[in-house]
Amino acid sequence: MNNTTVKAVFEEAKLLQELQVCGWVRTFRSNRFIALNDGSTLNNLQCVVDFEALDADLLKRITTGAALRLKGTLVESQGRGQRVELQVSTLEVLGDADPDKYPIQPKKHTMEFLREQAHLRVRTNTFGAVMRVKSALSFAVHQYFTSNGFFNFHAPIITGSDAEGAGEMFRVTTLDPKSPPLSEDGTVDFGEDFFGKETNLTVSGQLEAEAYAMGLGKVYTFGPTFRAENSNTSRHLAEFWMIEPEMAFYDLDANMDLAEDFIQYVLRYVLEHCAEDLEFLEKRLLDEEKSKPQAERSQMPLIEKLRFVTDQPFKRVTYTEAFEILRNSKPNKKKRFTFPIDAWGVDLQSEHERYLVEKHFNCPVILFNYPAKIKAFYMRLNEDGETVRAMDILFPGIGEIVGGSQREERLEVLKEKMKQLEVDEKELWWYLDLRKFGTAVHSGFGLGFERLVQFATGMGNIRDVIPFPRTPQNAEF
Ligand code: 4AD
Ligand code: MG
Repeated sequence: MNNTTVKAVFEEAKLLQELQVCGWVRTFRSNRFIALNDGSTLNNLQCVVDFEALDADLLKRITTGAALRLKGTLVESQGRGQRVELQVSTLEVLGDADPDKYPIQPKKHTMEFLREQAHLRVRTNTFGAVMRVKSALSFAVHQYFTSNGFFNFHAPIITGSDAEGAGEMFRVTTLDPKSPPLSEDGTVDFGEDFFGKETNLTVSGQLEAEAYAMGLGKVYTFGPTFRAENSNTSRHLAEFWMIEPEMAFYDLDANMDLAEDFIQYVLRYVLEHCAEDLEFLEKRLLDEEKSKPQAERSQMPLIEKLRFVTDQPFKRVTYTEAFEILRNSKPNKKKRFTFPIDAWGVDLQSEHERYLVEKHFNCPVILFNYPAKIKAFYMRLNEDGETVRAMDILFPGIGEIVGGSQREERLEVLKEKMKQLEVDEKELWWYLDLRKFGTAVHSGFGLGFERLVQFATGMGNIRDVIPFPRTPQNAEF
């Protein structure tokens, strides 16, 4: 007999049908009712055993976490809370879970505790729901781009270039750390290393995506990226996944239109396809909110918040406009910002971004035309000579979710910029080639996938939306 998933039992199976299901015990009540979960859905299948017919030793092995294979008949449920249940005829314990040792018991566990049990936490309702929503979002990303004429492109993970110029990279080497080969000047001779040069894990697939956009027209990457920044926040990971579309012949306006349409599409997709999981996550958040002081409670329930984002346009504001708003804002005047907003050109910190999104505009905001000085070398210089065609999308509760720009397509301007910012022309000879042969206006952006999942699921900490988070001092599992 083939296995039927619990999801299929609820959606397709007929009464009186003989079925075989496999899954893990969530709870076992009254020596009679097993709540079985197999991950296919949030919902458990109630399985009713005749304990008098079961061997006492077997009965004892039905504990939370144990893996079971059950055969039986689907019948209308006598109890409340479920429409159908499985009347079990045969029960097999595939794998025991010693109740004295199995850490995930049917009670409230803290997120911190579950992070230490990251290999088991997906067996909880919360993590099951988060990961199903994440998977649906990932599918929607590919569906959106594929149906809009984009080609999926795999950027290299090991790279010789630092796209963002921030220098926060993880080195990739096979040299012996105890006695690396040295050059005459005493520095490590990376010429002797595996690739014959210094290499790192990529911080972004953008530069390579630009090369491919200039041949395929519209491409996107969706892969892991790495940042060795020592940021212990609820929104930073050392290893995260980024979605980076890159489009030939798109200017900044077209880029912003695409980003907005894309985010709204994928969020609409999960609203439509993950209703049960989202309702569960919403309820979970409401329970969590109750224990917080009034001022820290968020105004909107999760699903309403998602609809709010999908159903209205994002607010578009230039850096200069945002700067004026912030400069004249109450928290700035009362010196409540840690970083005061005084002179045009200052970089915006997350306290400022959150003020704009959560207090001033109260909706997602696209900030564009930033001062050239605070942005990467590859962004297109505006006619004013001071600002670049950059755009960041800021989301409530998250802050920056997207960073993107129109790219500098003019060879001489780019070279000048690289000189100013001390980006090595020799390293990026191929990137300059793109400006020598058939150069054209082009644009793209990067969306941090885990930040999107955080927004969609309402999870407060980014470590709880990736299976095995990598953060400073932490690479367990
Ligand atoms: O703003 P960033 O650094 O932009 C780039 O890397 C560009 N090359 C993208 C492009 O134009 N193709 O990063 C893009 C996004 C951020 O907006 C944020 O959502 C996410 O990546 N991100 C992180 N997410 C989790 N942990 C981190 N440490 C992150 N750093 C950036
Ligand atoms: Mg950024």
